[in-house]
Amino acid sequence: MSDLQTMLPLYMVTSLDVVFLIVAGPGCVHCLRIRRYFLRPAIQGRLLALNLQSLEKMTSIRLSVSISSSSSSFLGQGSISSRTQKSSFPARKSGTCVCVVTPTTEKTAYKTKVSRNANMAKLQAGYLFPEVARRRAQHMVKYPNAQVISLGIGDTTEPIPELITSAMAKRANELSTLEGYSGYGAEQGERKLRGAIASTFYGDLGIEESDIFVSDGAKCDISRLQMLFGSNATMAVQDPSYPAYVDSSVIMGQTGQFQKAVEKYENIEYMRCSPENGFFPDLSIVPRTDIIFFCSPNNPTGNTASREQLTRLVQFAKDNGSIIVFDSAYALYISDDSPRSIFEIPGAKEVALETSSFSKFIGFTGVRCGWTVIPKELSFSDGFPVAKDFNRIVCTCFNGASNIPQAGALSALSPEGLKEMYGTIGFYKENTKIIMDTFKSLGFNVYGGENAPYVWIHFPGRSSWDVFAEILEKTHVVTTPGGGFGPGGEGFVRISAFGHRSNILEACKRFKQLYK
Ligand SMILES: Cc1ncc(COP(=O)(O)O)c(C=O)c1O
Ligand SMILES: *[C@@H]1O[C@H](CO)[C@@H](O)[C@H](O)[C@H]1NC(C)=O
Ligand SMILES: *[C@@H]1O[C@H](CO)[C@@H](O)[C@H](O)[C@H]1NC(C)=O
Repeated sequence: MSDLQTMLPLYMVTSLDVVFLIVAGPGCVHCLRIRRYFLRPAIQGRLLALNLQSLEKMTSIRLSVSISSSSSSFLGQGSISSRTQKSSFPARKSGTCVCVVTPTTEKTAYKTKVSRNANMAKLQAGYLFPEVARRRAQHMVKYPNAQVISLGIGDTTEPIPELITSAMAKRANELSTLEGYSGYGAEQGERKLRGAIASTFYGDLGIEESDIFVSDGAKCDISRLQMLFGSNATMAVQDPSYPAYVDSSVIMGQTGQFQKAVEKYENIEYMRCSPENGFFPDLSIVPRTDIIFFCSPNNPTGNTASREQLTRLVQFAKDNGSIIVFDSAYALYISDDSPRSIFEIPGAKEVALETSSFSKFIGFTGVRCGWTVIPKELSFSDGFPVAKDFNRIVCTCFNGASNIPQAGALSALSPEGLKEMYGTIGFYKENTKIIMDTFKSLGFNVYGGENAPYVWIHFPGRSSWDVFAEILEKTHVVTTPGGGFGPGGEGFVRISAFGHRSNILEACKRFKQLYK
C-alpha cells in the first residue's frame, strides 16, 4: 500500500465502490488530473484504509466526472503493490484537469540549440504579482472553503460606466460596416483622443496633441521606452518602486547580476524612499544616471511628491543631464495641491517625459489604453529629439493602440465621462480611507492613502513576506509584501483599495480580529 502512495504521490480519496486518484496532469507538474476507478467488491474494504486525505480536499477541485454505472475490473486480485502494475491501471474515466499553480518549471525531453537570453536568466524568482498569485492559489488549495479577498495586485474591480462601454460597442459595431470599417490607425493614436488627453490632463501646461503617444498601457510604454534608451543607459529608481522599471531594465541588459546580500541589481541606483525622508530620496547621495524613473503618487507607498520636491528633482535632472520618466498612473487620485503632472514644474519639458494610463482612472486594466507625453524640447546629447526616436519605436514595434479602447478612452474624457471617472475614483478613495482608519485604530503606522489607492503599513523589524503569509493564513486576505518592490519595501505591506465595498469591510473586520 505504501508503494501505491509513492506511485501516486498527490491525493487519494476513496468512497465505498469508487476510488479517485488525483495525479499530476500530463505535461504540467502543477496540473491535477482526477482519475476515477471502480472497485471490485472484494477489494472495497481494503482500499478504504487508504483514505489518505479527507474528502474535503476534493471540494477545491470541481469534480465534473460523471459517474458511470459500468464497473471495471480494475485492481484485480488486489495486487496493487507492484510498480509494474501501474502501467496496466486502466483509466476508465479521466476527469477534469485543473491547473492549481503556475508552473515554475516545465520538463521536456527535447531541447533546442538556442541559448537562453542571459538577461532573462538574471531576473529573480518571478515577477512579483505572479508570485503573489501563486501563493494565493496554494492557499486556496489548502483552504478550499475560505472566502479569499484579494487586496494584492491592485486590479480594479468596479464596472466601467455604461457610457464608456457603449462607445466601445458602437465602435466595434461600426467595424462591420463599409463606412465604419478602419484598419491600421495612426501609430501615435487617433488625433481626437490625443487632443482630448492634451487638453484634459495638460490644459495650460503647453503640451500639444502632437506630444502625445496613445498606447495599450503604461507598462507597455515603459518597456518601449527601455528599448528606446537601449542597453547602455543607466537607471535610477525609487526604492521601493513598481517592479516594471527594474525588471524591464534587467531584460534590456542595463544591469549586472542580482546581488542577494543587498537585494539589488548591479548598475541600478536605488533611491531609498522611507518615512525617515518623507518618501522623497536624498538626492545629495544619488549618483548621476541617464534615466530617473519617478512615480507620484507612488506605487507602492501611496506617497505623493510635493511641488517643492519635484522642483528639486527637475533641477537635479538638469544638473546631471538626465531624463526623468515620470509615471503619473495615479494622478487623478490626488486630492491636495500636489502636482498631477511633472510638466507643472517649470523647465520640466527639457528633462522629462511622462507616462500615464486609463487603467486606474476608469477600470481599463483589461481594456488597455494609456499614453506617453514626450515634449519636443526633450533631446539626447547630440540634439536629436527623443520624441522622434520614440515615434520610430512605436511604428516599428507597436503599430498603435487598438481602435476600440481608444473610442472608450475618448468618451471617458467627455464631460459626462469625466464625471463618471471621478465618481469611480472617489469610490476607491473611500475604500482607502476605511483601510487607513482600520490600521490607524489598531495602532499601526500607516502611510500613503491620502492621494493614492494604496495603503503602506509598517511592520517594523518583520520580513514583509512573513507578514504577507501571516495575514493570508489568518485572515484569507491577499496583500502585497513590501519587499517585492525593492529592499526599501522590507518591513512594509501594501494593501490595495481596489475592491467591492463589502470585501473591503469584511477584510477590515478580519484585520481587526487579527491585530486587536
Ligand atoms: C505605477 C504604475 N505604472 C504603470 C502601471 C501599468 O499600467 P497599465 O495598466 O496602463 O499598463 C501600473 C499598474 O499597476 C502602475 O502601478
Ligand atoms: C554603448 O557605449 C559604448 C561606449 O561608450 C559605445 O561605443 C556604444 O556605441 C554604445 N552602444 C550603443 C548601442 O549605444
Ligand atoms: C548631479 O547633480 C548634483 C546636484 O545638483 C550635483 O551635485 C552633481 O555633481 C551632479 N553630478 C554629475 C555627474 O553631473
